[in-house]
Amino acid sequence: MTDMSLPSSGAHYDRVARALHWSMAALILIVFALGLTIDDFPRSWKLTMIELHKGLGIAILLLVALRLIWRLAHRPPVPVASSALLASAAKLGHGALYLLMALVPVIGLVYSIRRGQSFDFGLFTIPAFQAQEPREITRPIREWHEWAAFALVGLAGLHALAALWHHLIRKDDTLRRMLPGR
Ligand code: HEM
Ligand code: HEM
Repeated sequence: MTDMSLPSSGAHYDRVARALHWSMAALILIVFALGLTIDDFPRSWKLTMIELHKGLGIAILLLVALRLIWRLAHRPPVPVASSALLASAAKLGHGALYLLMALVPVIGLVYSIRRGQSFDFGLFTIPAFQAQEPREITRPIREWHEWAAFALVGLAGLHALAALWHHLIRKDDTLRRMLPGR
């Protein structure tokens, strides 16, 4: 008897999951690059770039919440058949990516609030929640923000390599299921 639970090779992630996946991947890379280059911008640009970094970072946090809710309500397609070890590694890796996608902006937000910063979203501004705390106290929070951001982008890099390995070497449907179409 054939096993009916084998993945149908045409199964795709739904449109919302795909749209969220690719828009968030792009946003994360832009916000990461902005974070690293803020000091390279001329003085007159710096403040705008920090506000852009914070605004887009908060958008990532809202999107990851939306994505988790969507994910719980809509099952993803059954993974392409592979060894138990690879399947667990993928599960663990995806879980860690979700965790870091939420953790990085949360730490950024905590850092920003404790530095006594306001939030300028262009159309409106949210004033500072508290007075500025000294740099000696907030420096470790900024460092955690940076390290967590590197972990997120590093893991996403490995994840992209794994997707390319599926596509180019194993020649299975893993990447196609996340690409536009049908
Ligand atoms: C996925 C989202 C985010 C990523 C990948 C990210 C990444 C980074 C990176 C790589 C840096 C440079 C680290 C350093 O120079 O110490 C940075 C700095 C910073 N981030 Fe984020 N960040 C994100 C979200 C946020 C959010 C939501 C906020 C606050 C609302 C925020 C606030 C800041 C601040 C205030 C700095 C220091 C900027 C400066 O003064 O040079 N970040 N971020
Ligand atoms: C910052 C960048 C990225 C992040 C944070 C990210 C995150 C994720 C997460 C959390 C999942 C699991 C989705 C779920 O089942 O709920 C996923 C799936 C997937 N991602 Fe990414 N991703 C990123 C970039 C990329 C890139 C660049 C590629 C391709 C080169 C890619 C290819 C895929 C594929 C093919 C899947 C489906 C895997 C499967 O069916 O087992 N991702 N991604």
